[in-house]
Amino acid sequence: MTQDRPVDADAAADGTAGAVLPAPRTPSPREAPALNWGVMAPGGIAAHFTETLQKHTGQQVVAVGSRDAGRARAFADRFGIATAHGRYADLVENDEVDIVYVASPHSAHFEHAMQAIEAGRHVLVEKAFTRNAREAEQLIDAARERGVFLMEAMWTRFLPHIDVVRQVLGSGLLGEVHTVTADHGQQMDPDPAHRLFAPELAGGALLDLGVYPVSFASMVLGPFASVTAVGTKTFTGVDGQASIVVTTGSGAHGVLNTTLFARTPTSASISGSRARLEIDGPFYGAARIRLIGRDNELLDTFVPPRRDGGMSYQAAEAARCIGAGRLESDLMPLAETLDIMRVLDGVRRDLEVTFPGE
Ligand SMILES: NC(=O)c1ccc[n+]([C@@H]2O[C@H](COP(=O)([O-])OP(=O)(O)OC[C@H]3O[C@@H](n4cnc5c(N)ncnc54)[C@H](OP(=O)(O)O)[C@@H]3O)[C@@H](O)[C@H]2O)c1
Repeated sequence: MTQDRPVDADAAADGTAGAVLPAPRTPSPREAPALNWGVMAPGGIAAHFTETLQKHTGQQVVAVGSRDAGRARAFADRFGIATAHGRYADLVENDEVDIVYVASPHSAHFEHAMQAIEAGRHVLVEKAFTRNAREAEQLIDAARERGVFLMEAMWTRFLPHIDVVRQVLGSGLLGEVHTVTADHGQQMDPDPAHRLFAPELAGGALLDLGVYPVSFASMVLGPFASVTAVGTKTFTGVDGQASIVVTTGSGAHGVLNTTLFARTPTSASISGSRARLEIDGPFYGAARIRLIGRDNELLDTFVPPRRDGGMSYQAAEAARCIGAGRLESDLMPLAETLDIMRVLDGVRRDLEVTFPGE
């Protein structure tokens, strides 16, 4: 955090003179109680998650489950995991596993998370939580009934710079928040075989990338009063790009974009009557934040402690909650996950995108 902050008369009159960004209160991921994790669906992000846990936390990955015994064994050998299961059903029945990390495509989150819940395991489910709100609601009900912990793996929520944002919002430093912007665009080569383009895997920009700006706006603004979207489809019929405007009851706006067609800045901002925050891209990973006054003067900068290991914070949060006997996280509450799924459903209605089998 830098302390070089120009003080000017307008800022003084404004009450922002000398304003500094608070230090994050985020505990070290290494301090969380250690759980035994079972990784379900060993694809790209499962590998990254496992590597991150092993490098940055005291969590233990004790088992992996794949639809294919050979793939499970290869993943287990790669990461030194004790048990490889060739069926997801065997993974969730493994009594050594405290918590299952569901890392399958969006289309399968409901079925796979439900399998783990019914076996009495705690569950961390990759984003987007499910295909739609109906599936999300059923998972939440089932987890509450079974008394197991359940959380959407919206890893951004648990990062130190987001705790800085939460504290600034809580302090009222920005004044009344009027406008939130956030975007997440990546340029993906058109490939009908890739899950992002596949309707049957609930592909598209929105559930994969757009969920980050939507979740960010939800965290900052609270529940939305309205959601309006326009979009462009890919050659496979899923959403390739969406621009979304959300409003709140108090008249604040969120202006959000997601696309598979271009690499966008992936930055975010929160503008209030007294000051604004600008979060560098990618805002959803460890990012730098600037606090800027009403006259565009730089008041302070927060530089994240480190850039790697971002997924360790969500695992640590799950472990802390479970260690304390809590069935959900206050930082990513299930009611908000459900609200976010309802917003994504609304956007898809505007875009006229549905997935086979919904
Ligand atoms: N947090 C992040 O930064 C981040 C980044 C990327 C992706 N994600 C999320 O992680 C999830 C998975 O993404 P990914 O990129 O890791 O996908 P991926 O590389 O395609 O891996 C998905 C895995 O799911 C399993 N699977 C189960 N049913 C399947 C089906 N019907 N078709 C294909 N695979 C199936 C496969 O493993 P087996 O067949 O071996 O069981 C496959 O390896 C998505 O929810 C995505 O949004 C999160």
